[in-house]
Amino acid sequence: MRVMVVGGGGREHAIIKKLKENPKIRQIYALPGNGGIAKDAICVNIGAKDIQDIVLFAIDNKIDYAVVAPDDPLVLGAVDALSRAGIDCFGPIAKAAEIEGSKVFAKNLMKKYGIPTADYEVFDSSAKALAYIESVDMPRFIKADGLALGKGAMLARTKEEARAIIRSIMEEKIFGASGNRIVIEEVMTGPEVSVLAFTDGKTVVPMVSSMDHKRAHDNDEGPNTGGMGTIAPNPYYTDEIAERCMQTIFLPTIKAMHKEGREFRGCLYFGLMLTPEGPKVVEYNCRFGDPEAQVVLPLLETDLFTIMRAVTEGRLGEIEVKFRKGYSCCVVMASAGYPRKYQTGYPISIDESVIDSVYVAGAKLSADGRQLLTSGGRVLNVVHVADTLEEAIKGAYEKVAKIKFENEYHRHDIGKKALMALK
Ligand code: AMP
Ligand code: GLY
Repeated sequence: MRVMVVGGGGREHAIIKKLKENPKIRQIYALPGNGGIAKDAICVNIGAKDIQDIVLFAIDNKIDYAVVAPDDPLVLGAVDALSRAGIDCFGPIAKAAEIEGSKVFAKNLMKKYGIPTADYEVFDSSAKALAYIESVDMPRFIKADGLALGKGAMLARTKEEARAIIRSIMEEKIFGASGNRIVIEEVMTGPEVSVLAFTDGKTVVPMVSSMDHKRAHDNDEGPNTGGMGTIAPNPYYTDEIAERCMQTIFLPTIKAMHKEGREFRGCLYFGLMLTPEGPKVVEYNCRFGDPEAQVVLPLLETDLFTIMRAVTEGRLGEIEVKFRKGYSCCVVMASAGYPRKYQTGYPISIDESVIDSVYVAGAKLSADGRQLLTSGGRVLNVVHVADTLEEAIKGAYEKVAKIKFENEYHRHDIGKKALMALK
């Protein structure tokens, strides 16, 4: 089998390492991959959004199966294009990926099908949005409709902040066309849980839950990032809550997408908030979370490729998906300054003993191919799996101590909140 994975970050590295456990897979290509992924796959210099080149590569190289991991190519129709070329894929078609690609679509879907989420209004002009702000209480969340690198949701604590946010999104267009429409919604409170689920459009199989740490600095301070670390499973997500989510959120979402003619096949990510009124949806993503995949996939016991094929072929209900007991923790090692300005090009030294626990997010190889150099904001994901959460966290930080690069920073409190919830 020749498999191709579209994408080039820590999530894709985690997917590739897991796929490699299947002996039937002889070769894995990563488009574009990165300097660390190059140890586990053949990296091909084709960007994740270059759909035509991706399809041509797949045909020329007789690819049997493609995994499209990031949101952009999914929303742009990479799976549609590959499928038209006769290549089996893991990932939703564009019509289904819209559940992440348009917040307006996602919110309207939830309203139509009674799926619990924050109350909201949609606006297509700044004048109407500004007028609305005068009539409601603050705080509110204001969100650009389209993809915005995870930065499209902003908290307005006062009307003045709300006006500034509306103007920046709708008039100054800081997120481009993604800000042609906005959603203004009530603020929910409660612990957040990420649940990734395999679905073939009929059956939905949730994976172990996880907890992201989105802020840049300890104690949830500093700006929002793509994620500075994760733990799994999330202790707030009890069996009782899981059952409630299945009945009120997961199954209704899958059925709603089916009814709308947008059957979702792939990994559907439910960003949930456990509010005093029960679990509600904060957002949907049409893909594995990053860095959620890095803690969830190491706990997966069933062969990932077998599950993916079952999803593609609509047979997910026929197979058993098992996770091992225990916990995992992922600490992100980043470039100082991320998510704002940062410098790259620093040599990375990783002790040989921990190399298997590292998923590389943003690094490239030096010209002679011998040295790994930093190339991104989030550079490495360091993961440890253990029987207890305490051991998983301790192990991850012990590994972090064996890795060095200049200007490195990481959070020191990944999993701390989760540990307190267990006590
Ligand atoms: P999103 O881009 O929609 O995932 O939002 C990013 C983050 O903002 C979420 O992970 C939450 O922490 C927070 N957030 C978004 N919407 C709300 C809301 N309505 N109430 C409370 N927190 C929210
Ligand atoms: N870690 C959140 C995301 O993947 O969007």
